[in-house]
Amino acid sequence: MCVGEKLEEKVIRDIEAVQRLVLANFIRFNVLNFMPRLGKIVFQKLWKELLEIRKKQEDVLIPLIRQRQKKINNTKEGDEGESIVSYVDTLFDLRLSQENNARTELSEGEMLSLCSEFINGGTDTSTTTLQWAMANLVKHQEIQEKLYREINVVVKRGEEIKEQDLKKMPYLEAIVLETLRRHPPGHFILPRAVIEDTVICDGRLRYTNECHGEFHSGRDGLGPKCVGTSNEV
Ligand code: HEM
Repeated sequence: MCVGEKLEEKVIRDIEAVQRLVLANFIRFNVLNFMPRLGKIVFQKLWKELLEIRKKQEDVLIPLIRQRQKKINNTKEGDEGESIVSYVDTLFDLRLSQENNARTELSEGEMLSLCSEFINGGTDTSTTTLQWAMANLVKHQEIQEKLYREINVVVKRGEEIKEQDLKKMPYLEAIVLETLRRHPPGHFILPRAVIEDTVICDGRLRYTNECHGEFHSGRDGLGPKCVGTSNEV
């Protein structure tokens, strides 16, 4: 999904190891964001550690980005060939708005950072959400039973669930939404504020510059209309 290739197990493990380092140290390195120049001097050891992790990321991810670019270039010269559009493909085509004759293509380093964000953004969030959903289904057997019945109506026993089947499973969707509401994987994301009055959603939502777009954690119990009636967690 990220670099458009089916990767060998070893490469996947290398990516996993380095991305885990990035995530595990994320908060420690944050201080360098707040004072980038001074931070390099005051927290020299921390800065060195950050550069080492970055170097590890470059060693693992840059060859994959280059390999993909080469493949795409070769495909463009020939015909058809590559049908899957991966995340990194969209970055090759992306152009920044030009200011003061600056370059418009993304650098390899920028692509690396975006790929890193993509990998981290997609893995921990999804696995944590699934773990919470499973834990709650184990705890609330009556909900599990109802979901099991829904699946059995839509899919024949022993058959794989396909993507188009999901549209016929509103109860499953409600469970996923309720899990996200009760256990949102990201709590401390940056608050957003509109800078000018804006009307979206056919006028149903109107943002003014006093209204902040925020994500709320819904830890106020199960929503009775969604999945169940219990207020226990
Ligand atoms: C339960 C699953 C997920 C949740 C709850 C979730 C939540 C979020 C949230 C709240 C943001 C906005 C963060 C911010 O800008 O402050 C975000 C951004 C992002 N997510 Fe997810 N996400 C999920 C799954 C995924 C998956 C599966 C992928 C990729 C395969 C992904 C890739 C990204 C990327 C690349 C961004 C940054 C977008 C940008 O700012 O340009 N996420 N996600």
